[in-house]
Amino acid sequence: MARKHLLVVAHAPSDNTRKLVDAVLQGAHHPDIDNVSTRWVPPLQATPEDVLQADAIILGTTENLGYMSGALKDFFDRCYYPVLEEKQGLPCALYIRAGMDGTGTRRAIESIVTGLRWNWARDPLVLRGEWQPGFVDEAEELGLYMAAGLDSGIF
Ligand SMILES: Cc1cc2nc3c(=O)[nH]c(=O)nc-3n(C[C@H](O)[C@H](O)[C@H](O)COP(=O)(O)O)c2cc1C
Repeated sequence: MARKHLLVVAHAPSDNTRKLVDAVLQGAHHPDIDNVSTRWVPPLQATPEDVLQADAIILGTTENLGYMSGALKDFFDRCYYPVLEEKQGLPCALYIRAGMDGTGTRRAIESIVTGLRWNWARDPLVLRGEWQPGFVDEAEELGLYMAAGLDSGIF
């Protein structure tokens, strides 16, 4: 079976958000996952080619000023049309780190994902409020879920 590619496009501007990316990657690199390569690319560096090569994607962002990070928005601005035709149906997941809310970010990304016709592999994860160590476990579980879905052919 051809190796599958899981792309993580996540903004990680703080120690806590870096912990979230690391946890997603750790989950995706679970020893039981044989056939999936997972790669984190910060959104400002992610290209349409990265998306075209991906079999599934995990998006991650902070909420800033009621919206997704400018970095993730820049990713969508550059990549939306170049991937629109080819990547319809791409399984996707999302986590949001929000100091207090997350709603505006979730709504905006859901709208973009609808336009792209990507498929939600699971509901967006909103990690809201004061930092909790359990957020790391939720992020790890998300990475594992997506990698396992690819590995087993469910997606
Ligand atoms: C300029 C700025 C704007 C922010 N705006 C929001 C916001 O609108 N809603 C929200 O829930 N959190 C907001 N936050 C909090 C960030 O989401 C939070 O600090 C970020 O996710 C990093 O999490 P951490 O502090 O646990 O590292 C903002 C933070 C900054 C620096």
